[in-house]
Amino acid sequence: MSIEQRIENAAALIKACQRMVVLTGAGVSKESGVPTFRDALDGLWAQYDPQRLATPQAFAANPKLVWDFYEYRREIMRPAQPNPAHRALAALETRFPGLPIITQNVDDLHEQAGSTNIIRLHGKINANRCSKNCQGSPTPIDVTTLEWDHAHDMPHCPYCGHPVRPDVVWFGEMLPLDQLDEAKSLSARADVMLVVGTSGVVVPASDLPHITKRAGGKVIEINPSESGITPVADIWLQGAAGDLLPRVVAALDTAQDA
Ligand code: APR
Repeated sequence: MSIEQRIENAAALIKACQRMVVLTGAGVSKESGVPTFRDALDGLWAQYDPQRLATPQAFAANPKLVWDFYEYRREIMRPAQPNPAHRALAALETRFPGLPIITQNVDDLHEQAGSTNIIRLHGKINANRCSKNCQGSPTPIDVTTLEWDHAHDMPHCPYCGHPVRPDVVWFGEMLPLDQLDEAKSLSARADVMLVVGTSGVVVPASDLPHITKRAGGKVIEINPSESGITPVADIWLQGAAGDLLPRVVAALDTAQDA
């Protein structure tokens, strides 16, 4: 079947659906130049395995090293702008007000594009909190109000003195329960889940399309490569999200009801 026909079929499913939900991963931000964990490291950082730096154990052993790693990631993410895929998802809100977007990404490109209902499973790279959550969970810290020696030190919690950490979920940590519960319940109620740019191998996010399928919903996937989700996808649109998502949204205006 041609990609045009698949886009038509996807648009027909979306047009007919009542409760839609979107699941995104690193692939949706790829065309904005946001590097994934696996391709983030060069220069000084090339000697480190990022999956080992993004752990509570690494932070306990060397908080300054992990803090500097996140400062580096923030720096390379700073110029990133939403791409046509983020914008197409935001445009879908005219048809589905408050369209929920469950994301594994820690950037804020969905918000920048104008999406209003983001369920964050892995936190937000530009937010920080007390590593002990000493004032309750979470204890947000605005580091712009703190002073420290950037070359030799890192910020510490103004309440308890423990190191400040990025408010992201590290490997081996629990996901925020309220966000995860909401993601599961949205997945169970959705008649269409649109999955964009995730390898579908990191649990529990990778379970969500299966929840939709088991409850009788349909799964549409956009990804240039086969992923862990592809076997359960009713429609796989093979290609880049920045190319295909705007075409799906444009096709909604002309699509026949499924
Ligand atoms: N459009 C759509 N998808 C794309 C594009 C693109 N332009 N380019 C790449 N992809 C796809 C890849 O084929 C791959 O399947 O995006 C997916 C990215 O996979 P991962 O890098 O594994 O990202 P993700 O699935 O979000 O990873 C989940 O793992 O790295 C940790 O905590 C991190 O949140 C992340 C989690």
